[in-house]
Amino acid sequence: MSESRLWQEVDYYLTARLLSDALGDDALTAALRDSEAAGLPPIAVSPTQGKLLQLLARVQGARHILEIGTLGGYSTIWLGRALPSDGRLISLEYDPRHAEVATRNIARAGLDRQVEVRVGPALESLPLLADENPPPFDLVFIDADKANNRHYLEWALKLTGTGSLIVLDNVVRGGRVADPDDTHPDVLGTRAALDMIGSHPRLSGTAIQTVGAKGHDGFALVRVVE
Ligand code: SAH
Ligand code: DHB
Ligand code: MG
Repeated sequence: MSESRLWQEVDYYLTARLLSDALGDDALTAALRDSEAAGLPPIAVSPTQGKLLQLLARVQGARHILEIGTLGGYSTIWLGRALPSDGRLISLEYDPRHAEVATRNIARAGLDRQVEVRVGPALESLPLLADENPPPFDLVFIDADKANNRHYLEWALKLTGTGSLIVLDNVVRGGRVADPDDTHPDVLGTRAALDMIGSHPRLSGTAIQTVGAKGHDGFALVRVVE
């Protein structure tokens, strides 16, 4: 068995053992099915990763969540379900077609009162959001165009407070992040974000590599301090 096949098999095993609820959950499975039918790329978080995000949101006691990069709303549903009934999640998405699919998926999950999808380039939506003076977000999930990861991290820092958690997806990308010959804008954006995490006095973070249904990748987990 190839390495990546093995990672996938183990991820499926863990999903079957630990996440049978999610496998039988109509809103989650329909969100993936309709995303695929609409031609969206199959790059949502895996079930085990979605559950991790949900656990982090619950541990955090999150009432206000910001997501950058909605796609079909699969990660949004995992996160949205961690919210108390008066909690809110805002998710930013560039592609109106993705946002439309996500909005339907989120409504089917019964989360349309708590979740709002805002369409446009996130670097335009974020200053508009900041102008509204929202309460600090308890959790920010950054999962959009990786070239802008450092900018997204800077906005996340502005929109959070002490104790908030910022999660960045796809920080390893099969090891590309650590390959000095790789100067793709996505890789540079993630490296710049990691450099900021490692050097900023208000950020305390780490990154963990992951293997599974989505290959070899990783999350950065960052706490806002002071
Ligand atoms: N979080 C989703 C996956 C997001 S995929 C999940 O796990 O289910 C990345 C998404 O970011 C895509 O839908 C893409 O259209 C969106 N995106 C790309 N560039 C963007 C930008 N500049 N602003 C906001 N969203 C962007
Ligand atoms: C891609 C984007 C993602 O956010 C992800 O989790 C996996 C792949 C991509 O653009 O290829
Ligand atoms: Mg991702």
